Amino acid sequence: MPEYHQNPETLHIGTLPPRAYFIPFADVQGAMAGVRDASDRMTLLNGQWDFAYFPSYAAMPDTVEYTQTIPVPSVWQMHGYDRHQYSNVKYPFPYDPPFGPTDNPVGAYRRKLTWQKAEGKRYQLHFEGVDSCLYLYINGTFVGFSQVSHSTSAFDVTDVLVDGENTLEVHVLKWCFGSYLEDQDKFRMSGIFRDVYLLERPAAGVEDLFVRTELGEDQATVSVSLTMPDGAPDPILSLYSPQGQLLGQQAASQSTSFIVEQPALWTAETPQLYALLVQTDDEVIGQKVGLREICVKDGVVLLNDTPIKFRGVNRHDSDPVTGYTISPQQLVRDLTVMKRHNINAIRTSHYPNAPWMPELCDRYGFYVIAESDIESHGTVMLYPEQPMPMERLKKTFSIVPSTPMFYPAILDRVQRNVHRDQNHACVVMWSLGNEAGYGPGFEEAARWLKAYDPTRLCHYEGMFYALEGSDTTLPDVISRMYPSTREIEAYFEQKQDTRPLVLCEYIHAMGNGPGDVQDYQTLIDRYPGFCGGFVWEFCDHAVLLGTTPEGKPKYGYGGDFGEYPHDGNFCVDGLTYPDRTPHTGLLEYKNVIRPLRAALVSTEPAVVRLTNHMDFLIADTYSSLRYELVCNGIVTEEGALDMPPIPPHGSADLQLPVQLPETGAVLLNLIYLSKTEQALVPAGHALGFDQLSLREERVLPPCTPLPGASITLEETKTHYRIAGDSFTYSVSKNSGLFDSMEAGGTALLTAPMDYNIWRAPTDNDSIILPAWTMAGYDRAQIRTSDWTAEAGETSVTLRYQAVLAAAYRQWIVRMQAELTVDASGETSLRLSVKRNEEMPFLPRFGVRMQMPKACDRGEYYGYGPTESYCDKHFGTKRGLYHTTAADNHEDYIMPQENGSHYMCDFVKVTTAQGMGLCVQADAPFSMNLSPYTQETLWETAHNVDLPNSDCTVLCADYKMSGVGSNSCGPELLKPYRLDETAFAFTLRMHPIL
Ligand code: GAL
Ligand code: MG
Repeated sequence: MPEYHQNPETLHIGTLPPRAYFIPFADVQGAMAGVRDASDRMTLLNGQWDFAYFPSYAAMPDTVEYTQTIPVPSVWQMHGYDRHQYSNVKYPFPYDPPFGPTDNPVGAYRRKLTWQKAEGKRYQLHFEGVDSCLYLYINGTFVGFSQVSHSTSAFDVTDVLVDGENTLEVHVLKWCFGSYLEDQDKFRMSGIFRDVYLLERPAAGVEDLFVRTELGEDQATVSVSLTMPDGAPDPILSLYSPQGQLLGQQAASQSTSFIVEQPALWTAETPQLYALLVQTDDEVIGQKVGLREICVKDGVVLLNDTPIKFRGVNRHDSDPVTGYTISPQQLVRDLTVMKRHNINAIRTSHYPNAPWMPELCDRYGFYVIAESDIESHGTVMLYPEQPMPMERLKKTFSIVPSTPMFYPAILDRVQRNVHRDQNHACVVMWSLGNEAGYGPGFEEAARWLKAYDPTRLCHYEGMFYALEGSDTTLPDVISRMYPSTREIEAYFEQKQDTRPLVLCEYIHAMGNGPGDVQDYQTLIDRYPGFCGGFVWEFCDHAVLLGTTPEGKPKYGYGGDFGEYPHDGNFCVDGLTYPDRTPHTGLLEYKNVIRPLRAALVSTEPAVVRLTNHMDFLIADTYSSLRYELVCNGIVTEEGALDMPPIPPHGSADLQLPVQLPETGAVLLNLIYLSKTEQALVPAGHALGFDQLSLREERVLPPCTPLPGASITLEETKTHYRIAGDSFTYSVSKNSGLFDSMEAGGTALLTAPMDYNIWRAPTDNDSIILPAWTMAGYDRAQIRTSDWTAEAGETSVTLRYQAVLAAAYRQWIVRMQAELTVDASGETSLRLSVKRNEEMPFLPRFGVRMQMPKACDRGEYYGYGPTESYCDKHFGTKRGLYHTTAADNHEDYIMPQENGSHYMCDFVKVTTAQGMGLCVQADAPFSMNLSPYTQETLWETAHNVDLPNSDCTVLCADYKMSGVGSNSCGPELLKPYRLDETAFAFTLRMHPIL
């Protein structure tokens, strides 16, 4: 059996040279319409193929018996073969290049093809994506071999095809030499996962086509280079305007150009496309052309001479049911979600997507960083020295690009990426790959790239790990992942490099987060040389394992398949759930990157300054405007306003026709709506909002105190019993808080109230978590002392000292407490708290109440309606909201802290009949209403395993620390940590009947 897959010198056998992606048509109409499946020159070979799976290539029989069938395209792990494995950095096999593991699974595919060859035609068999490599046999004859999972492999099969019935056989190996270059953070799936088709081509057809555009004063040049076989007749080239008007036509053999006067330029905001047709006697090739120019000038990225900002995401081909196999419909669904959330850029992390992907990005308007299929991250694990000093990390990261065996493969992968997508306007940067270090292998590839396509920018983050002596001048931008805001400021303040900065990954969206989106955006807006960033990442990766009886999807992540090694839920780190339902992080990102922003100029009259953050569109062409005046949570005035014609990057002042009421908290909401229907975005779609405070005042809850004129106090050894006319409370001398609260004959607590400094760790807490648990925050015990009691006619006051500390650790907080209860049942708890400075910041500080399950209705004034934190509330508005414990639960696949609300003035938690508790504080506080305790959330690994809850948990926190993005990003910024050494907190609560 051939062993090309373990030989670095046989990357491809019998393949056609890489070329730009195009599908020929029989006529001009077909090529203009560009619906490839409608072309009679293309025969799609997708469908059910015969299949046989073997766990080991070495043990595969010479004659394969095909007993199964499998759909093409698909990945075999989704059809019950092999098993799933999620690995982030680690190679799932020993590092022993060029060899793969001894047990190398194989999927053998077979299909029949009845064919009639036409005179003088050539037949090309195209595989758009096969993981990891393929051996092709036709009618029992070996035709060729290819690797590079995410690039096209094409074979000229004319000579092996026979008239009549043919048998195509493809042996796909799970691992090959190329797997060392495909160590991307993903589920490791295998098979023919993209389309397979046969193209009929003329013997002397166009071999390649490269369109470049250049802008001049009021005109654009479209240059076309053709690769033609010797002696081929000159094709006719025609260029059409976006409206379909013929602009020019000429015969050309190799290269030619068109001049377009008054060109309609392509941008992500104005995706205007011209059409180029290349016509020979036998076929017509259509290519949409966007006229645009990207460059760097004075350290700023310019598109069509205008500074642009990327509001980007990293996107993998990933689906919980189809895995790597993504249809155009699935991609359009992703693009729709992106457009509707103001995203304008995609990095194809970390490999070329299907060849029609850039076509859709041209059409719908997205900037693309097109990444080559290269990642060798696993070398940092070869022999870990912990923590690895930077010099050593650079060395181990750069093993692959510094090992000559890999140089041809690196170049091949970069070339295949570039050739295939070279004609797309959307591609503004080529990325050499991801996390593969830096070395001669990449230098060679970058030199080739810059010579071959100087019209786009070269991107490569791995250059950060360049060894001394490497040529680090090759990439056109400085790309970083996950730097802190401080590092970014230092980059611009120190100006040691004049290249623009792009964050190819930032604000790691895993779990509850990201929490620092606005902090980064502030810097993106501040520095002209900061062209923006790409969130890691667009969607959660998971495998759908079925549904619960209630119809909830059950998702599996790393470790759910018995695999070794694996990286747990690190794949569940997107802005959307696997089914593309937005996480709250996406709502946050959407509003932070809103196209318009407002700042308050004056309150009376209410004047705002609107700034247009689009790079090309005038504000009134894309957005309409609504306003709401909100007094104490109630909308008192609202209406539509004319959006001023604010130029891109410009501002205008606008006076609002509102009357400030005499008293109360007053907020002004400005809501931006899409003006007309656009592709993927309906008219009237919310683009974002601003909320400006015209008057800060506390909003009081609409609660009436219980009737009551007198109060009594009884003391036992362990408790104080406080009773009024309509309530009885029991204060525990052990916990310092209520053991029970009963009002109107009903119990309001199902468990003793407690002080709470813990939260169910979020993914972003995972780095600080060891420090937190070391300090004992997860198991702090309370000790109270120095109790005094003072009973008056209408109120009772208890005072005590308390310490929170965990076994074998010193104190975490010390407090002085004063608990006053009056005859109406109203309680105020005044705390003066000291935090131990030697210990890490606290997750939260507050009081937790476990209430009867029936008390599951919440009404609050604060940031909502979705969860909000001190560093993650830009997608929410302050307002008056109604919710339930269940609705307030954000169902992260790995359960964690969720559903908190920042800056609350009050919260009322009641039964459907209105019986319950009302909670306020002296200053805005955080509150959380949940059907689950933090302990339950913490110990449950999958959302579908959360037990039925038997209570409603209400937490009222002086503060809840921010969420940040520390799961991969920098540590939580200081202002978002609960790290004060001393603070005061007064909480008031009273029953409502
Ligand atoms: C980056 C990497 C991504 C992903 C992310 C963590 O280092 O480029 O592929 O692994 O970290 O989710
Ligand atoms: Mg990686």
